[in-house]
Amino acid sequence: MTTERYVFPHKHLLGIEPLSPTDITVLLDQARAFEEVCERPDIKIVPALRKKLVVNLFFENSTRTRNSFEIAQKRLSAEIINFDADASSLTKGETLIDTALNLEAMHPDLIVMRHSAPGAHALLARHMKASIVNAGDGSHEHPTQALLDAYTLRKKFGKLEGLKIAIVGDIRHSRVVRSNLWLLTKMGAKVTLVGPPTLLPKDMKQTWPMVEFTSDLDAVLAEQDAIMMLRIQFERGTGGYIPGQGEYIKFFQLNAARMKRAKKDVAVLHPGPINRGVEITSEVADGPNNLILDQVTNGVPVRMAVMYMLCNPHGEQVP
Ligand code: CP
Repeated sequence: MTTERYVFPHKHLLGIEPLSPTDITVLLDQARAFEEVCERPDIKIVPALRKKLVVNLFFENSTRTRNSFEIAQKRLSAEIINFDADASSLTKGETLIDTALNLEAMHPDLIVMRHSAPGAHALLARHMKASIVNAGDGSHEHPTQALLDAYTLRKKFGKLEGLKIAIVGDIRHSRVVRSNLWLLTKMGAKVTLVGPPTLLPKDMKQTWPMVEFTSDLDAVLAEQDAIMMLRIQFERGTGGYIPGQGEYIKFFQLNAARMKRAKKDVAVLHPGPINRGVEITSEVADGPNNLILDQVTNGVPVRMAVMYMLCNPHGEQVP
């Protein structure tokens, strides 16, 4: 009997939507192997991307994702170019495609991009030979965030299947939610989306019919294994969807009183940046249930795994 070897079947990581449960499991398992590299006391570097050229293109601000990708690239021994959009010819009117094609002419192996336009990465992927990694595109997807969230949950609970997870806040504008919905539903978790009715788009029910939607956080709090809090995205116009911050805090803030009604070992996640005192109090954000900085730590091996599998689809790790 022959056992077929797994080959990662994707040239790009544009989103979680095209990934199979096996692809997700392979990435999480590969990340586990890279976590051991990151935890070494001395040399935290492997030659997995030696002689590979990676270009980081960030057209939107980022603290966690940008630094996490760069650290992951350094841990994999890649050669790195950090593209500075403000100092580039984009400011002289050059288009995104022309910019990308000119970078392509220098033969990068991998492009990591964050852009405000949903679908910008798919457009680039149609024009370029390099693999594209989506580091966030508008309100569409943020696949490596969902993978590191899943990694963090799997590390705490040992599984994703059957977990009850509430995602609370500005569902409408969140790319983190969309990537998490694809990932968690593919992996058999039970997701409840919680937010003001104006921030719970009805068309999401058609895409994810198995997901619960509610505006009553207190009614669903006690049954959750994990609560993922989201910030209000004022920069994407969310202020116009809620009556006011005080009203929002009253119904949707995760605070000490609400934590008393949650499971004792409930996991509290947040992709960051946090608006302390709005969607979550400092007491909870810094409290014993929070996995918020674990998420950030886990982002490095997860992003190492993504870049490694894209450049080495025949990678050793099998599900
Ligand atoms: N979670 C996240 O995407 O954070 P940054 O915007 O800081 O990258």
